[in-house]
Amino acid sequence: MTGPRLLRSGRSFLAAPGILLRPRSRSRPPARDGLLGNLEKRTAWDSFYLRSLAQPFKHFDWFLGYSSLHGILVELLQGVDRDGPRKLLDLGCGTSELGPRLYCECPFPLHVYCVDFSPVAVRLMQTHFSPLPPLGNPASELHFLQADATHLTDFQPGTFDLILDKGTMDAMLRADDGGVAVKQAVSESLRVMRAGGLMLQVSDEDPDVRILWLERVWKVNVTAFELEPDGRTSYFAYLIKPVK
Ligand SMILES: C[S@@+](CC[C@H](N)C(=O)[O-])C[C@H]1O[C@@H](n2cnc3c(N)ncnc32)[C@H](O)[C@@H]1O
Repeated sequence: MTGPRLLRSGRSFLAAPGILLRPRSRSRPPARDGLLGNLEKRTAWDSFYLRSLAQPFKHFDWFLGYSSLHGILVELLQGVDRDGPRKLLDLGCGTSELGPRLYCECPFPLHVYCVDFSPVAVRLMQTHFSPLPPLGNPASELHFLQADATHLTDFQPGTFDLILDKGTMDAMLRADDGGVAVKQAVSESLRVMRAGGLMLQVSDEDPDVRILWLERVWKVNVTAFELEPDGRTSYFAYLIKPVK
């Protein structure tokens, strides 16, 4: 496996304005039928996760799982200048294995908060995650909460060192007025981010669109990395750092 490739850092990227979502080139497994046209709706996600109850629980990553991303996540968290445990928010976690495995395996103390607006996804994670003592560090913690990314009222300003959005805002953008909700969600993320913290978006949206939009709306600097392709789809990591 090759590591992430730096695409662009700084403010000079040329791009077309607006938010465009490229249609995905892969066909989806049948279980996603009924969801694809309703990716921004909580009820559609509830039904999606309810369908998985028919089978024994298995973590499900919409794309790129732990093996693809733990390296970059641990490196970013390690780089945080903090005395106590680092705090990670996985926004729209679904039933992804990223949060639980980071909790289990991270060598330094890490408090992981996995949130999703689907109560079904949160219940699945709470019920099926076996709360083994963390192997990586005994001071680590793992929490699952129901929360809407647009209203992170459960969290105080300046709480998190790293906020992860893997596919969540991509899903929200599918709504006709998705840009409004995503603006609110990014603003909420920046509110609950600690000074010196970072946000990492993992997305299939092209860098020329995503970077320009982020840097136009907020005072942030965005660095883009190309991640390994998942099937025929390219994925990108956007590292978002507020500018003082
Ligand atoms: C494409 S899936 C990604 C799930 C997970 N991050 C992964 O990579 O597998 C999008 C997730 O975002 C959640 N979601 C969508 N809109 C949300 C919102 N406004 N607030 C919180 N979660 C949301 C959905 O319930 C779903 O679990």
